[in-house]
Amino acid sequence: MERKNNMMLSIKWGEDDLIILDQTKLPEKTEFITLKTVEEVWDAIKKLKVRGAPAIGIAAAYGLYVSIRDLKAECFEEFYKEFEKNADYLASSRPTAVNLFWALNRMKKRAIESKNKSIEDIKRDLLNEAHAIRNEDEEMCKAIGENFLTLLEDGMTILTHCNAGGLATARYGTALSPIFLAKDKGWNIRVFADETRPLLQGARLTTWELLQYGVDVTLICDNMAAHVMSKGWIDAIITGCDRVAANGDVANKIGTYGLAVLAKAHNIPFYIAAPSSTIDMDTPDGSQIVIEERSEDEVSCGFGIRTAPEGVKVYNPAFDVTPNSLITAIVTEKGILRPPYDKTIKNIF
Ligand code: MRU
Repeated sequence: MERKNNMMLSIKWGEDDLIILDQTKLPEKTEFITLKTVEEVWDAIKKLKVRGAPAIGIAAAYGLYVSIRDLKAECFEEFYKEFEKNADYLASSRPTAVNLFWALNRMKKRAIESKNKSIEDIKRDLLNEAHAIRNEDEEMCKAIGENFLTLLEDGMTILTHCNAGGLATARYGTALSPIFLAKDKGWNIRVFADETRPLLQGARLTTWELLQYGVDVTLICDNMAAHVMSKGWIDAIITGCDRVAANGDVANKIGTYGLAVLAKAHNIPFYIAAPSSTIDMDTPDGSQIVIEERSEDEVSCGFGIRTAPEGVKVYNPAFDVTPNSLITAIVTEKGILRPPYDKTIKNIF
């Protein structure tokens, strides 16, 4: 798989198939898999083989193209009926990251705009749209990193949660983008990475990416974050997000809300990194965001090791909502947004 500046790309279009780095195998195995059917793409998203809001959107766009690549249709209506059915199917894989729905809607719009063309030309346009979604994500992530650098300084220590790095996007990541760009500039930024129970995206993915890039990273358990903040070791907290509501409430990996509360208690700035593809103007506030609930086994029998008695009741929400009042700034590719978010978010669209 292609590497750019020591950053492994987790999602790529091959000869005529989608290739992903199976993130469930990291850090032990670097294994790439080729996804040849829409069912395989759905399954890869559901099982977090490809994960992180922007990467989910990119995979879904390519998956939708894969679903109609060999479709024979007499007319646009017949083509679009099957295409829309496959889009609905992919949309059912995970509910919280709005990038999934955003990317599928972009693909639908492209199909409708091309409706007067031949079926083969429509298919070509759809593949190009998926490429555009991927390429624009890389540009947005880089711009987010550049905007963030104006808030950071050489020598700072950042705490992050889950994985919002290159693995979760086309490249660079969102929350980790400024860390990579700072490293390129020769800055010495240190990172504390929460392990991120129950699926350990911080331990397995964030530390792996940062170590590969030569960044000074220290792994902590989630319940150590308050202690580390109380020591005065953290200059800023940066996380990614799965959906920003129109009022600036933010859904991100479970545990993010707690970090924001802790940040307030310790007077530490709490920043969200968000490409505009993650901002959902149709969701007025955080209470309207559907929070994915995942299997009980992830908590009581994670990675196949039983850590709680059989039959115990488990609650496993994959995300939580951080109210806008706890967020110091939302950094997008279009600029740094500050409160009042209902106004500043509207201004960038
Ligand atoms: O369940 P995951 O691993 O897909 O959750 C990912 C996150 O919560 C990320 O912080 C978010 O998607 C932003 S990725 C740039």
